[in-house]
Amino acid sequence: MLNSNPDISGFAATITSWQKVHGRQHLPWQGTQDPYRIWLSEIMLQQTQVATVIGYYQRFLARFPDIQTLAHASQDEVMPYWAGLGYYARARNLHRCAQVICQDWGGQFPLNSQDIATLPGIGRSTAAAIAAFSVQERSPIMDGNVKRVFTRYFGIEGITSERATEQVLWRTAEAVLDAAPPGLDMTAYTQGLMDLGSQCCTRSRPGCEVCPLLQHCYARIHARQHELPTPRKKKTSPERQCRMLVARNADHILLEQQVSPGIWGGLWSLPRYDSDEDLQAACCRWGSHDAPAQRMAGMVHVFTHFRLHIEPWYVVNNTLQLAEPAPAQRWVALDELRNTALPAPVRKILEGLFPASFA
Ligand code: ADE
Repeated sequence: MLNSNPDISGFAATITSWQKVHGRQHLPWQGTQDPYRIWLSEIMLQQTQVATVIGYYQRFLARFPDIQTLAHASQDEVMPYWAGLGYYARARNLHRCAQVICQDWGGQFPLNSQDIATLPGIGRSTAAAIAAFSVQERSPIMDGNVKRVFTRYFGIEGITSERATEQVLWRTAEAVLDAAPPGLDMTAYTQGLMDLGSQCCTRSRPGCEVCPLLQHCYARIHARQHELPTPRKKKTSPERQCRMLVARNADHILLEQQVSPGIWGGLWSLPRYDSDEDLQAACCRWGSHDAPAQRMAGMVHVFTHFRLHIEPWYVVNNTLQLAEPAPAQRWVALDELRNTALPAPVRKILEGLFPASFA
């Protein structure tokens, strides 16, 4: 740690007071101690912005109001409520986690972070956040935003995803809590760390002038905000290509359920083809002689580890009986599309072609 004069004993109280005035107060998952609701919000908020999560969170809770309802649903019933949020392993783990809680925990969400962290899809930081928000447990969190606050304030160098740096970060976060006053409001402190990291101590233009930690912050004092956290070497994402086919038969579209795990596992996508020959064969199968396949505007979808260039094609054959598709395929009526678990780019393609089906 490079900061020779951190205010360790005042750190948590400063953030707590700041949160009560400047932090977020009225998000739909605040003001509850129900671990189910808190857990759902924390999983949705991993890798996803608050503004995107709000609608998904409310729709999900309206359909699955408690852990029993979620555990007893099938994965096919759950996926439409996650479609478009991305990182679908989160939804599969969420569903599995609900089943584990019903089978192994008598349907009661465990209420300490060590037990919570044994559940599928929940790491140490998320477990601590759930325990802090539901039962005021005094355990630290350490997500991407919080790492930024700690590396800058304490002057902690090193790649933050590397084990050695993570250990220093966790130890520092534990020391802060050890030094904090008894009775610290863990909801306000935990939320305050998240809010400060995402609203004030931002990556590219941190608002140091309005930051409650400015007096003792190592990065501000040494003008090193842009060197901390230590930047990772950026790898360029590989580029992948695919062709997708919108095969229409009167008022039905051919969709294919994706295997899990895998990209979009559990969701219903348009059939994808890796070569022009395979696409051609599919166009012959599902198209008609008098209406040739049309190529539509291409798009790029960005995943964590690669960029997918999608070339969509459209064929229509209204005279075909609804021919038997391959086992994972299904003809889906246009007016069912809005309730189908579609990956975001597939939804975009279909919304462009059939806006009335999504209105
Ligand atoms: N990101 C992760 N958890 C969050 C929360 N409770 N509020 C806002 N952003 C978050």
